[in-house]
Amino acid sequence: MNDLSSVMMEPGIVADQGRSLWALVTEHSTYALGVTKEGLVINLHWGPRLATLADLPDPSLALTHSSHDPALTSIAEEYPGFGGLRYGELAAQVVFADGVRDLDLRYERAELLPDSARLPGLTLSLRDRHYPLTLLLRYQLDLANDLIIRSAAWRNEGDEPIRLERAFSAAWHLPHSFASRTLTTLAGQWVGESQIQRRPLVAGTALVESRRGITSLNAAPWLAIESEPMPGQLAPEVYFASLAWSGNWMIRVNCDVTGKTTVVGGISEHDFAWQLAAGETFTTPDFVAGFADDGLNGARQRLHRYVRETVLPTSQALQPRPVLYNSWEATTFDVSEQGQIELAELAARLGVELFVVDDGWFLGRVSDTAGLGDWRPDPRKFPRGLGPLIERVHDLGMAFGLWVEPEMVNPDSELYRAHPDWVYAFPTRARSEARNQLVLNLGREDVRSYLFEALNRLLTEHSIAYLKWDMNRPISEPGWADYLAQGGEARELWVRHTHGVYALMDALRAHHPSLSIESCASGGGRADLAILRRTDQVWTSDNTHPEARLLIQEGFSLALPARVMGAWVTDAGRGQVPLAFRFHVSMLGALGVGGNLIHWSAEEMDEAASWIAIYKQIRHLVQDGEQSWLLSPHATRGQFAAVQYTSQARDQALVFFFRRDQVFGGSHSPLRLCHLKPNALYRIEPLRALPTASPLQGYPTVLSGAALMATGLPPLLDNWQTHASYLVKLTEITVLSTWRTHLPEAERYDRTSS
Ligand code: DGJ
Repeated sequence: MNDLSSVMMEPGIVADQGRSLWALVTEHSTYALGVTKEGLVINLHWGPRLATLADLPDPSLALTHSSHDPALTSIAEEYPGFGGLRYGELAAQVVFADGVRDLDLRYERAELLPDSARLPGLTLSLRDRHYPLTLLLRYQLDLANDLIIRSAAWRNEGDEPIRLERAFSAAWHLPHSFASRTLTTLAGQWVGESQIQRRPLVAGTALVESRRGITSLNAAPWLAIESEPMPGQLAPEVYFASLAWSGNWMIRVNCDVTGKTTVVGGISEHDFAWQLAAGETFTTPDFVAGFADDGLNGARQRLHRYVRETVLPTSQALQPRPVLYNSWEATTFDVSEQGQIELAELAARLGVELFVVDDGWFLGRVSDTAGLGDWRPDPRKFPRGLGPLIERVHDLGMAFGLWVEPEMVNPDSELYRAHPDWVYAFPTRARSEARNQLVLNLGREDVRSYLFEALNRLLTEHSIAYLKWDMNRPISEPGWADYLAQGGEARELWVRHTHGVYALMDALRAHHPSLSIESCASGGGRADLAILRRTDQVWTSDNTHPEARLLIQEGFSLALPARVMGAWVTDAGRGQVPLAFRFHVSMLGALGVGGNLIHWSAEEMDEAASWIAIYKQIRHLVQDGEQSWLLSPHATRGQFAAVQYTSQARDQALVFFFRRDQVFGGSHSPLRLCHLKPNALYRIEPLRALPTASPLQGYPTVLSGAALMATGLPPLLDNWQTHASYLVKLTEITVLSTWRTHLPEAERYDRTSS
């Protein structure tokens, strides 16, 4: 036994100086990389946790299979750039000032972040063999959540500019495997976001991307690759990744015929270029990836914890998300002081905590044809300004929120008339309007200053706790004449726009630390790990019909947690779907109400108030619990859904069950739960807004965790009822004796309880 094989690797970064090798060890995984004698940085392992450094191979070049499959293509380089005999997926492409387009980066040194850091880190420096170009590869570890957070930084250390044409965040390599693999991605459209797409991973490249200037409604920068469990494995192993970027992005997944699987991604290369000036550094967004040995729910829970613990703005992250009312579906552009006060009074009766006036409040905004850019209350709608409305909302015991769409301008606005040169445009082309609006160039300092002043004035003059920040069209005609004239690279504007949005949000938050922001782009078009660093919640979709919402929310929740998933009960489905079902669907996330309360009956108001009161009692479990989808509406074509939220201590849980209809009658199966303590007894308590008979009549009201997981909750619904749902709370009453097992540690109940 040599030294290496006797030392157990603890979570953290373990370096083997002699072999230029590092193991990034998390609670359940190991990610290892090393430097070959040629100076190439390659991946050595990513997957289940290894025990000792001796478990890792020496970093060396793979054998060349043939002259068509050279070693540089076969090895798992941590950041392969276009250059030499590399034909696999690439992370970078660069053009030097002399026209050379070949990268040859070699390892120089490594730097470890101090052990005490919350997320321990490792930075490797690579340098081109000929040109003064340095690449820093950054790694951070989220130890408890089995995540590796990667980014890259390019530094031009010479005197001449270097042009980046592709500068992705990372390349990830999955180990070779006999198991067949399934790729899961999220695709969508307006009012149909986050639909789960599953396809077998076969040889070829799968591409997901946005070219619209925002994260996009049409695809999400998230994916998972699941292996069919091999004999002897309990749950599928899942590799998953999420990109922290709110502009154009691209993720490519390549599998070759040998099963070698590589994922690369970052800022999209589409219409991208960055002129790296002498002395300048360009840093890519974070690309977060993880390994879960307990299936998709395990992957989902890891990302949720990461968002809650690390990503969200810290001042708000630990507060319960308030129940909000939003005026959009009730009043659209027909906003007035009196009308909003009437809604606010009704909302307060329901127990709403935050009243948000959506679109339609500012100068000239009678429809979507005018007003964007002029962020002052319209005197025809608010002759006394916003003050009296806000005061009334406060008197009713609610906080006040306001809708804005800062990046946009209507040609019919004072702003556009004064600054027609502030929008993206090409001089010889028409300016394509979408929803009658154009996009302001947030790369420009003067545009950002104008917007900061306008929004800061609103927030300073009024007590506004919450901004809903919308973005209702993609960028087009991406021209920036002034920048080009100064010798700038206009194709930088996609990135500069996103940086501009971040800078504006960051500045507003710095000046107003208690401000919350909701990210919206016609629904869930800007929902990603980077926007959530500066926003608290996301508007999930303009589709508020409960049947569609179950599908959208299942997809959304693969990438992002319940506390950021805005979900309103509106009039969609009213008269067709019981109010309880509609509330249950919205209670899966950050609950809100968006219906026209003026038309709600006294019974509807009472029932709604009762559901909101129940939600406030259980929201800590929804917003901060471990979320497991027990029944997938995607897999059952919308027929069933069931979601469980479990406290970290596993002593409380909620189960939401939904059945759209039961056309053939008959009972459905019991619902097997997860994540409970098998040796604890749980009280089973249906939560009901109205005093109806308990569905548990004839069924036990106390069961062990073992029974709830092995045989399940009994079917609690009437056989024929359509749009039927229930909400059950489980509370631990007592823990029985120790749950003895003859299985090894790793296969105890945790393994089956994702
Ligand atoms: C799109 C959003 O998704 C809606 O909720 C609403 O805010 C409208 N924009 C307002 O124009």
